[in-house]
This record gives sequence, structure tokens and C-alpha cells, in this order.
Amino acid sequence: MLGAAGLATAGLAGCTDQIRNRADAPSHHVGGTPTQTLPADRLPVGTSASVEVEGRTLLLRREAEDVVHAFSAVCTHQGCTVAPATESGQDVFACPCHGSHFAVDTGVPSGGPAQKPLTEFTAAVDGDWVMVTL
Ligand code: FES
Repeated sequence: MLGAAGLATAGLAGCTDQIRNRADAPSHHVGGTPTQTLPADRLPVGTSASVEVEGRTLLLRREAEDVVHAFSAVCTHQGCTVAPATESGQDVFACPCHGSHFAVDTGVPSGGPAQKPLTEFTAAVDGDWVMVTL
């Protein structure tokens, strides 16, 4: 059995489902529970939105009726808040600080100084809600 230090170490090395689902998992693993973010009818297919959930800003993108993506809005360059935007006719997630933009379906940077993708969360359309596992 892992003690608290063991859990912390294991969490840094990689978050396995076994650790994530433990009742005594450290706080950064408390998620694991899908959380309501936005009524599904407020995120039509082909649109993006920014929502505040449990103190975090999340970026949502609905690709199809049952396909939705969720990302942290924290820019991977220097931490500014990224938001939905349109660049050259394409939907992107854009950072107002230094001009990075990210693909709405993958979070991968497509321009600007950011080199790493946005952090992605597990997301799904479940009935009337867009659910994100934090
Ligand atoms: S903080 Fe986002 S581009 Fe620099």
C-alpha cells in the first residue's frame, strides 16, 4: 500500500487509473468525477466556448453531436488566458499576450511563441450537459 509520499511520487511519475480512483488520492487527482460545465444546447456543433468551472477557465469545442474537447485556458507560453477566436477565417484558441494560437480540436500550437499544447481534459456530451473530468 502506498503512503501519502508514495502517492505523491506515483502521481508525478504518471497518473494511473488505480491511483486516480483511490478515495485518498491527493487533491490534484480529486477530479476523476465528470463535472457539468455548460448545457449542451449552448455549445452547438462547430462552436467553441470559454467557461469558468471550479475556479478554472476551460475552453470547450464541440466537433460533432457527441464529440467535444476541453482544454485548460492557461497559455503554455507564459500563462495568460487563452480564448476562442477566429484567425484568417478559422476557429482557434488565441492568446492575447504574445499571439500564440492553438488548434481547437487538439490544443496544439499553430502559431506564436507557445511550443506545448494546451492541457486537455476528458470531455463528453452526456444528456443535456457538456461534462468535463477535472
Ligand atoms: S502567454 Fe500566451 S503567447 Fe505568451
